[in-house]
Amino acid sequence: MSKLSAGDTGDSLFDSPFMKLVSTRFSVRRYDPERDIGDSDILSILEAARLAPSASNRQPWRYIVVRERELRDRICSFGLGGVVPNRFAREAPVIIVLCIDISMNYVRAGEFIKGIPYAFIDAGISGEHLILRAWELGIGSCWIGWFNEKEIKKILSIPANLKVASLITLGYPLKDLRTSKVRIPGKKRKPLESIAFKDRYGNPFGLGNEEGRD
Ligand SMILES: Cc1cc2nc3c(=O)[nH]c(=O)nc-3n(C[C@H](O)[C@H](O)[C@H](O)COP(=O)(O)O)c2cc1C
Repeated sequence: MSKLSAGDTGDSLFDSPFMKLVSTRFSVRRYDPERDIGDSDILSILEAARLAPSASNRQPWRYIVVRERELRDRICSFGLGGVVPNRFAREAPVIIVLCIDISMNYVRAGEFIKGIPYAFIDAGISGEHLILRAWELGIGSCWIGWFNEKEIKKILSIPANLKVASLITLGYPLKDLRTSKVRIPGKKRKPLESIAFKDRYGNPFGLGNEEGRD
């Protein structure tokens, strides 16, 4: 049985810069009120989002970067709240509104013919590119899936052909006062063998059951 080793990829399989990025990233809900995000960082974050793959390369995502204090306040007052209050969004210096252009035919065709919401998958991939690039720059973020679409569209003059898929808050994470460091919480995730299978569904892809891990 051939085994993958660190040498095959030039870095360690579980300790590469990318693995460090994804394993330390967490949903940041407390932001440093003293630090705004620079324009060049926002540009770089958007560029990472722009480069994402998408079904038929349609790139249905549209991003609205909300920096103006008054607009952010209105989003938080009227576009958030209810069962999931998402109060932390008030402290974020930037709110990104991730929309999907639903006027593209493939959006409807995909859902009706295949039952797969391709455009939402595309938006999720692009949004995660954005989030990971932000984290690489030390900028924290949090997806917000619970919002009032009607209010957000009104506040930001979003046209009818766009569907708001998610909000993403951005801001530098608040540091722990005692250590002056950002406290990275542990990950709560299902074990690999309950989410990945070898050859047939139900055959766990777990320790000792696949190539590449002992
Ligand atoms: C599509 C989506 C919607 C989410 N909506 C919210 C939300 O409305 N409010 C919130 O506080 N967190 C929200 N989250 C963050 C998740 O709660 C969080 O990613 C999950 O608990 C895992 O924690 P971690 O991001 O710190 O690893 C959302 C995440 C995703 C991917």
